[in-house]
Amino acid sequence: MKAQPRIPPAAHLQQITIDKRRLLRDLNAVSRIGIGDRGSVTRLVFSIKELRSRQFLIHQMRQIGLQIHIDRIGNIFGRIDGAHAKNPALLVGSHLDTVVHGGKFDGTLGVIAALEAARTLKEQNIVLQSPVEVVCFVGEESSRFGYSTLGSSLVAGEVRGKDLAHAADAQGTKLEDILASMGIYRNNLRSMRRDPSTIKAYLELHIEQGPILEAKKKPIGIVTSIAAPTRFRVVFTGQADHSGTTPMEMRRDALVAASELIVAVEKVCRRYSRVEQGRVVGTVGAMKIEPGVINAIPGRAELSVDIRSISAEAKKRVVRLVQAQIGEIARRRNIEAEILPLREENPVPLDKRLVRLLKECCEVRNIAYEVMPSGAGHDAMQMAKITAAGMLFIPSRRGISHSPLEWSEPEDICLGAQLLLDSMIRVANEAI
Ligand code: GLV
Ligand code: MN
Ligand code: MN
Repeated sequence: MKAQPRIPPAAHLQQITIDKRRLLRDLNAVSRIGIGDRGSVTRLVFSIKELRSRQFLIHQMRQIGLQIHIDRIGNIFGRIDGAHAKNPALLVGSHLDTVVHGGKFDGTLGVIAALEAARTLKEQNIVLQSPVEVVCFVGEESSRFGYSTLGSSLVAGEVRGKDLAHAADAQGTKLEDILASMGIYRNNLRSMRRDPSTIKAYLELHIEQGPILEAKKKPIGIVTSIAAPTRFRVVFTGQADHSGTTPMEMRRDALVAASELIVAVEKVCRRYSRVEQGRVVGTVGAMKIEPGVINAIPGRAELSVDIRSISAEAKKRVVRLVQAQIGEIARRRNIEAEILPLREENPVPLDKRLVRLLKECCEVRNIAYEVMPSGAGHDAMQMAKITAAGMLFIPSRRGISHSPLEWSEPEDICLGAQLLLDSMIRVANEAI
């Protein structure tokens, strides 16, 4: 006879434990999809490898017996009903896409830990008051199109048509064209928004991707806010010309202008880099040069600029200063400059009640934690716009991420996943 579903009394919650071997096995299995040089992982959004990782997840969800729903962009939701079917659901997850030559854990940890937590609940026949949905968001990384948190932004109703205009990959494929092939157009972007009344909260476990937890020797971080980026492309257009015959004073070299901008981004951000100044960071991470040959003066240079802070004010000030520099460089060098906006986001505070609940979960297990902001972007930053969102971090070795050197210790991974399950049970069972 099938065992009756049970709702665990609060006192028993700590006895519900994940299967560590199974968690590590699944993490390993996903990291083999898209594995490359030096143990790097590449699963760019909408690539075959990324689609395979989603198939892996769907297969696992089916085996566990989750009710699967896939929306138009490909976000995957695997649901366990709650004791009260009409209660709004707790969503728990992250993303499976990666940067180019990234690591094994960024995003993947959050999805696979949520999967293991759901499997534990199913296996032990535990029913919580609210439904729980394991979620994998499509395209959190901006590496391919310069557009981040695509799937969660659609779920939060935060994608604006004008933001898509300049989103294209290195081969020139436009994000808008890919979306159109899925039946997603500028005029129905909002139709993918999930009704906030169907969501109770969102939880995400992620690697820290920074050095703080390791330095402080704390196994867990509890996130209070997420720094948000302003991103744009800059196109400098000068004059391509012969490298042997054009005198230095007659050149209009787009790449030299771009080089000045790269240095200017660093200089301006360094002036605002201290914590009390908003800890602004700025990066030029990609550049295309034309014609890009040894014997021609570069006539065109296109750069990506990514500026982030947990202070909206500080970020705005830095963006203004950088953009003024672009104008100044262009004028002085008699070159044209165009700024193509990609995304402008505000830093996002996470839910204070969830911060408190996550602290309590750590305290019950006697785990040291650090309460901290996140410098990296996450799907939680979109979900926070439509529901209460909370995040847990585990340490990253030497703070390295977006690199094959990205590493977190199995012990920390398992602890993070266990605390994720603990907090899921509490959030789904309690009024928050
Ligand atoms: C996501 O990884 C980001 O770029 O912050
Ligand atoms: Mn990332
Ligand atoms: Mn991530």
